[in-house]
Amino acid sequence: MAILIKNGRIITANDDYVADILCEGEVVTRIDTAIDAPTDAEVIDAAGKYVFPGFIDPHVHIYLPFMGTYAKDTYETASRAALVGGTTTLLEMCCPDRTDEPIEAFELWKSKAEKSACDYSFHMGVSRFDSSCQAQLREIVKQGIASFKVFLAYKGAFGVTDEELFNTLTLAKELGVIVTAHCENESLVDALQKQLLAEGKKGPEWHEPSRPTRVEAEGVHHLMTFAELTGAHVYCVHTSCQQALETVQAARLRGVRAWVETVIPYLTLDKTYAERPDFEGAKYVMSPPLRDPIEQPTLWAAVRSRLISTVATDHAPFDFVGQKDMGAGDFTKIPNGIPSIEDRVNLLYTHGVCRGRIDLNTFVDAASTQAAKLFGLYPRKGTVQVGSDADLVVYDPAYRGKISAEMQQMNVDYSAFEGWEIEGRPSLVTVRGKIQAREGQFVGELGHGQMLTREPSHF
Ligand code: URP
Ligand code: ZN
Ligand code: ZN
Repeated sequence: MAILIKNGRIITANDDYVADILCEGEVVTRIDTAIDAPTDAEVIDAAGKYVFPGFIDPHVHIYLPFMGTYAKDTYETASRAALVGGTTTLLEMCCPDRTDEPIEAFELWKSKAEKSACDYSFHMGVSRFDSSCQAQLREIVKQGIASFKVFLAYKGAFGVTDEELFNTLTLAKELGVIVTAHCENESLVDALQKQLLAEGKKGPEWHEPSRPTRVEAEGVHHLMTFAELTGAHVYCVHTSCQQALETVQAARLRGVRAWVETVIPYLTLDKTYAERPDFEGAKYVMSPPLRDPIEQPTLWAAVRSRLISTVATDHAPFDFVGQKDMGAGDFTKIPNGIPSIEDRVNLLYTHGVCRGRIDLNTFVDAASTQAAKLFGLYPRKGTVQVGSDADLVVYDPAYRGKISAEMQQMNVDYSAFEGWEIEGRPSLVTVRGKIQAREGQFVGELGHGQMLTREPSHF
């Protein structure tokens, strides 16, 4: 069935105008004023509402074996949550263990996504690099994966050696694949964790001191050095602080091709949440950690000036009871992660646009367009134009509501944003011309989501 969205205020990364949008089949076929409805069309009145391109979350964990447990969501729950919150495409980190074969891991992660209700792709994690891995990575890129992921953290788990990092970036440069990277100096984290525990400092409030901003900046510096020497394009995931941003900025001035992601928890929460009593702080343990509130104005300024390209989630859901509490008595054992795939867009709109920190175009750019451009999806995704996929979010700026774990689609027993007010939400969400969510409810079809194949973007 066709969909005609009438009189909405269409916002892209560059434009802001009122028009009608006709979607036929899976794509946008016409944008004009006063389009007559085809006989089979569902007509949506979007007067007084925004029409945004479907939002893209470029950093998500759904299937994640990690720290002795598994992230709680499945594609059924996570994609529903994504859609209700306006995210129509997600990029999941495929995170094999060092002993896993890349192709087998890629097949496993793909198999987990078959019931997805939104579109998706993967960043291929590289946790070992040898000649066999190299051949498998070439094959995975041929199958439509145009980005790798490396961890410079998590000693003994996902982290790669310097030689492996060099070889991964060299291969990425050859293939035109961008390398996303978790940047923290894992040896420093290890040493600081041991020191704090030896001093009897065991609660979640010690997570941040075990991974201070300089440790993150040191990880970023390390990545920048390797990117400079190999010419690879790199993307720093979940960047949390000014020192890390300055390190990227300095590298860019030397000619390094580097981009920056931050995530919604760093823009809205801070380390005082992880200091909450009775172990409640564990809900707010992620890595890099939530920072001193002083970092937030800098992060917002960097989004505004587009030094930060993307605002993602790093969605990584672990229950408070039964998972986070594995670290009661030892903060290094608290599974790291904060769930937010459902709330990213509304929080960025409320705390960014409504508070005057970013404008509507920057909002769309950071939450959709830049991810599409960097990861080989543009202009199929990330904008509203004729020929693009009909992934659209009709957004109601008059909506007022509160976030609550009880109401959420995410399969996790708490919300890091419990009781927070939101000033707007998607009233209609389409994925390739099919209505998948309305007014905070999933109304679509599981399995409608497709794996998106992506082309390497630079040589
Ligand atoms: O704390 C985090 N970030 N958990 C998920 C894994 C990762 O490092 O992205
Ligand atoms: Zn990470
Ligand atoms: Zn992550």
